[in-house]
Amino acid sequence: MLLASIKSQRSLYYFDALWLCAAFKIESMSTPPRVPGPLYKPFENLVKITLLGKEFEVPEGNILLRAFQYLAPDTVPYGRFCWNEECQYCRVECDEGEGTKTRKALACKLVVKNGLRVTETAQEIRYVLRPLKLTPPVGPQKD
Ligand code: FES
Repeated sequence: MLLASIKSQRSLYYFDALWLCAAFKIESMSTPPRVPGPLYKPFENLVKITLLGKEFEVPEGNILLRAFQYLAPDTVPYGRFCWNEECQYCRVECDEGEGTKTRKALACKLVVKNGLRVTETAQEIRYVLRPLKLTPPVGPQKD
């Protein structure tokens, strides 16, 4: 009787352990795959920028290249951009409004501000922004 009780107790532990392993496996299998972080820095407002004479609203506090991605989400990700200040394919000329000094900048580094005016861009940027129908349209940048 005692032996049978111990045996049934053991099998109970065995099944508990099996159940725990199965539950752990199911839980680890149901863990969602690792997803990248949010694309844009958190923002509450859109700011107005002018891009080659056309006005657009883009998320405040984000870099200009990300703002371009906001405007043309289907083409900017396919641009040949390094996103880390090395390739120089994201060069722009810009100012901060009427009467301010024009300067050269990298869109992957420059944070957008309300009133930013982009007056010139690298060919690669114009190419990936072709859905915006900026003038003049250009083909892909050659090396
Ligand atoms: S994306 Fe390469 S330098 Fe800006």
